[in-house]
Amino acid sequence: MSRVLEGKVGVVFGVANKRSIAWGIAQAWAQAGAKLIFNYQGERLKENVEELAATFGAETPVAPCDVSRDEDIARFMDFVKSKTPRVDLLLHSVAFAPKEALEGNFLDTSREAFRVAHDISAYSLVAVTRAAAPLMAGGGSVVTMSYYGAEKVVPHYNVMGVAKAALEASVRYLAYDLGPKKVRVNAISAGPVNTLAARGISGFSAMLSHYEQHAPLKRNITLEELGAMGVFLASDGGAGVTGQTLYVDSGYSVMGM
Ligand SMILES: NC(=O)c1ccc[n+]([C@@H]2O[C@H](COP(=O)([O-])OP(=O)(O)OC[C@H]3O[C@@H](n4cnc5c(N)ncnc54)[C@H](O)[C@@H]3O)[C@@H](O)[C@H]2O)c1
Repeated sequence: MSRVLEGKVGVVFGVANKRSIAWGIAQAWAQAGAKLIFNYQGERLKENVEELAATFGAETPVAPCDVSRDEDIARFMDFVKSKTPRVDLLLHSVAFAPKEALEGNFLDTSREAFRVAHDISAYSLVAVTRAAAPLMAGGGSVVTMSYYGAEKVVPHYNVMGVAKAALEASVRYLAYDLGPKKVRVNAISAGPVNTLAARGISGFSAMLSHYEQHAPLKRNITLEELGAMGVFLASDGGAGVTGQTLYVDSGYSVMGM
């Protein structure tokens, strides 16, 4: 891969393990020359993320941040500022909904499950982008992860689909606010990938085989393909692209039946 991100500094939210989409995109950003700083959600994930980050060099900065807590975001950004005067890239690859909300009927979603799903999966993009924006004085690229359940009904995706719709709308409003500062904000709408979060969705393995049968490419996507789109959006190749949701889904979303 060419070093199109040489000299860039990126902040990566959302690595849990080596199957994480955030890890796929982080690897591609690093191979393209970016230096990275990672968060981890809590003590449970600390060792995993530290080990993975260390593959880019033992000094790769890693710090805790639960995106549902403003004080965590402020502390994490202070940590980032202690490591770099400037941030060019921000990856938000974070989502959560209580397990019971991802099975059964959407109709039964509780007020609390709705709140939590939207707080962690959509509002957190606004919160971390606002916290990072002052460090993006020279412009930058923010990338978040969405799914087709934002637009169409995908059985069991339920409240997460509604939260992804809020996320995609947030991408458009953030793009408008930050455009004059040369900060671009985009979402990648990914086809299903077998990750920790995905396994929380009931019937997830049926989704994988459904895509294999029905998507134009007749296969599922890879982390490398998400990484390549992440590099495109982060690099000058994507210089004129903002506020968009781009599909890396083997073409599934173009099908009518
Ligand atoms: N896997 C898929 O099929 C798929 C498809 C489309 C979009 N996505 C999206 O990709 C993103 C990454 O998910 P993934 O599939 O790589 O799963 P993952 O489990 O590897 O990553 C989810 C991450 O969210 C983090 N997270 C959850 N709550 C958090 C909180 N309160 N504070 C900080 N971090 C928190 C977890 O620690 C984890 O690192 C999510 O937004 C997901 O909705 C996934």
